[in-house]
Amino acid sequence: MEAAIATTAIVPVRRVLVCQNRTCAKDGAAKILATFQQQQVVNVTVEACGCLGLCGSGPMVVVDPDQVYYWHVTPKKVAKIIELHLIGNNPIPEMMHPRLNHQN
Ligand code: FES
Repeated sequence: MEAAIATTAIVPVRRVLVCQNRTCAKDGAAKILATFQQQQVVNVTVEACGCLGLCGSGPMVVVDPDQVYYWHVTPKKVAKIIELHLIGNNPIPEMMHPRLNHQN
């Protein structure tokens, strides 16, 4: 008798929040939100959010439940976040806000 082999990887459910408040909006947050929304990633939702208390570091992006805060996000960085973090499950330390992310 053959044992069944599970071939599907477990894909974590994540939520991406993109601050759309005043300072981040001035820094181009609308384009960052639109760039995330143009890409459909399995098990990932993308939402606008209010101020994250990190004005001046924007556009700010949070990936939950990982609690990873990315700062000064550009469309190029969005592509990296999607590829490496959301699909590859590897958060990107060099793009994280230094005040809120503590690497082990
Ligand atoms: S306006 Fe985006 S963190 Fe405050």
